[in-house]
Amino acid sequence: MLFHKAFLQRAARLLCLSLITLLFTTKGFGQDRTIADFDKGWHFHLGDVKDGENASLTDVNWRLLDLPHDWSIEGKFSKNNPATPEGGALPGGIGWYRKTFTIPASAKNKLVYVDFDGVYQKSDVWINGHHLGFRPNGYISFRYELTPYLKFGGKNVIAVKVDNSVQPNSRWYSGSGIYRNVWLVTTNKTAVAHWGTYVTTPKVDENSATVNLVTTVATKEGDGVGHYWVGLQTTIYDAKGLKVASLYTSKGEKKDGNIEMTNDNPAVVSQEMVVKNPHLWSVSNPYLYKAVTRVYMLGYDAAKIPVDEYTTSFGIRYFNFDADKGFSLNGKPMKILGVCDHHDLGSLGAAVNTRALERQLEMLKAMGCNGIRTSHNPPAPELLNLCDKMGFIVMDEAFDCWEWKKAKYDYHLYFKEWHKRDLEDQVLRDRNHPSVMIWSIGNEIPQQGDTSALRLAPELAGIVHSLDKTRPITAANDNPGKGNKIIASGALDLVGYNYHEFDYATFHDRYPGKKFIATETTSGLETRGHYDMPSDSVRVWPARWDKPFTEGNPDNSVSAYDNVRPAWGSTHEATWKVIKKYDFLSGLFIWTGFDYLGEPTPYSWPSRSSYFGIIDLAGFPKDIYYMYQSEWTDKTVLHIFPHWNWEPGKLVDVWAFYNHADEVELFLNGKSLGVKKKNGEDLHVMWRVKYEPGTLKAISRKGGKVILTREIHTAGAPAKIELIADRKNIKADGKDLSFITVKILDKDGNLVPNANNLVNFKINGEAFIASVDNGDEVSHDPFKANYRKAFNGLALAIVQTKEKPGPITFTATSNGLKGATVVLQAK
Ligand code: GAL
Repeated sequence: MLFHKAFLQRAARLLCLSLITLLFTTKGFGQDRTIADFDKGWHFHLGDVKDGENASLTDVNWRLLDLPHDWSIEGKFSKNNPATPEGGALPGGIGWYRKTFTIPASAKNKLVYVDFDGVYQKSDVWINGHHLGFRPNGYISFRYELTPYLKFGGKNVIAVKVDNSVQPNSRWYSGSGIYRNVWLVTTNKTAVAHWGTYVTTPKVDENSATVNLVTTVATKEGDGVGHYWVGLQTTIYDAKGLKVASLYTSKGEKKDGNIEMTNDNPAVVSQEMVVKNPHLWSVSNPYLYKAVTRVYMLGYDAAKIPVDEYTTSFGIRYFNFDADKGFSLNGKPMKILGVCDHHDLGSLGAAVNTRALERQLEMLKAMGCNGIRTSHNPPAPELLNLCDKMGFIVMDEAFDCWEWKKAKYDYHLYFKEWHKRDLEDQVLRDRNHPSVMIWSIGNEIPQQGDTSALRLAPELAGIVHSLDKTRPITAANDNPGKGNKIIASGALDLVGYNYHEFDYATFHDRYPGKKFIATETTSGLETRGHYDMPSDSVRVWPARWDKPFTEGNPDNSVSAYDNVRPAWGSTHEATWKVIKKYDFLSGLFIWTGFDYLGEPTPYSWPSRSSYFGIIDLAGFPKDIYYMYQSEWTDKTVLHIFPHWNWEPGKLVDVWAFYNHADEVELFLNGKSLGVKKKNGEDLHVMWRVKYEPGTLKAISRKGGKVILTREIHTAGAPAKIELIADRKNIKADGKDLSFITVKILDKDGNLVPNANNLVNFKINGEAFIASVDNGDEVSHDPFKANYRKAFNGLALAIVQTKEKPGPITFTATSNGLKGATVVLQAK
């Protein structure tokens, strides 16, 4: 007997669906999808292990730890570490992680995946001895399916080998290990695929927004030949959780618009909804919506069997880059006021921590910053979540090199084989974030002057645009002149300039009709709290990038008056003055928001961290922070510096950054040193003062009315410690942090600006000291310690909760000083 193919398919489908119905009705329909934190209880061994993947290997003697984990940050600084001072001078090596876990027998009909947000680098993963895969890229997120190799109802062993031994492979500190979060994801056999939704808002105005959601549903039901039908109910909720739109796409049979799928062909479902009176996402009101997609398999009898629920967070906004008018968000012209940052979190190393990221963003927000460039690699997902929530515009960058190297063992070794996969994964993972508005396909690509860029730039742009056409593509070019083949290839939607602020004004002479973004600027150099006189001449340190640096200060410090820059960079003020002047300059990303480990320009060893930050490695703002705050925020600012402890008779330059005022008057011990006003493009005022101890006082005035007053006093000898916790109530979740600033004060409460006292810390309660720092680029003291010397009067201790609530008492003592205690509450 001959059966029609469709009939057979129907029969197969009926059978399968009956089985599925039975399964769910007998088991009861539970949670469809679980996303479990898989960070706890890994065993770690530093060094290679023979048969490390073998499930029966004994690992109980290995160190027990929770992820995220960076073993490099626990190591000792040495000039001889293969990372070199450029890479932070900390050790690399090979490390193994293993975790034994059970999967309940009841999960037998589920699919189980492990998701790694990032492993630096060259990771191999095994489950129960079976090799799942290798990923060389240390910044990419990836998933492996575990299902076929799992023992349901039994013990399973996952093993991860991380190889960061071959160095240098980075121009900055990378960290080593499983330094981002890991998740165990369980779904039904039919479920939304990995990164399986794509939300866009093709039509937006104040009254209404069209939301388009494309969902990919995959199935592993049956024996590979069955055809299945699914229905999708997607509901959009506003930030209050109120339903604002809902749509069910497929009812009835295929002919009615049902979505058919097989094991080989996932269903791709497009749904379009209208949200009335949308709250538009912006940097000042980062409003988020949620699309909750409920997936049903459709039974032959029109039964709807719920199989998955998947949530996509998104924002409704529109933006535009204009060749003449620059950037606008939701129709309003504005500039992107951004910073570049590397991924390390100072003394915490590369190990990602949401609170540490949030604190960085809070400080940047308070400075008026509204943009982040994820230099030069895909970021932690938590960073993008925070940017969505807090209102930052993100330039999401893919690569620091293509086929040609920058460091001997960097990604150029893997580019040919992996770039397509890595770039696709990055775009698929990140394209729903409203904060992401620019894709960067590379930073200072050595091939930018070579004809190979004519092939590669369009290829990379094509990969990005095949997955997302809603955002422009740029590349960060350090040679943006006529010979630049990346720009010449026409692949870029935005022409990205690194540095060259002196060429901005004539940009359109070179690239008529093109859109501009300053992908990287400035590279100003400062050591917090260190001041060299005079302040009104610029030091070019180093004067050449390709020659050894022989100038500088004997203690490897750099003056914090914005007057030190490398040959390729500018002072902060110089670049901002240009960006400010021309509308078509859509924005900038300053190198960098925070100091980072590695790249200690202009010095090398014994320096081991950067001087580029507007904020130092410990999170203490340098003076230039207040220049930006005076320009970029509505906050009324009057910031005067330096400190007031000098040799009598020395000529000291006093600067003031101010706003909302016409003038500032400075007084020394009650005597006026004159009134100063910013003229023309000025961003600060300055007095040259013959030092005498006492009180320096500044008053800003508008129309004769006092706006702000600031005083700095000559400090006496160190007498006491002050502790200031950024947050006293923290979550007892084992992850939350309190950042405790340690100040060395004289007996009258003045900060002692050059104090370097050794401070010892003690902690009682359900918490531990995650790390300590002081912002000194040259210190070789360990970050994992219960002591720290102050640096220019300040130190930092980071306290991390355990998982029990209760009071935490943190005490700081130092020889000859009055100690201090702060009490925190873990809740
Ligand atoms: C740029 C580069 C950055 C950093 C910076 C230091 O050329 O893109 O990664 O090295 O210089 O000034």
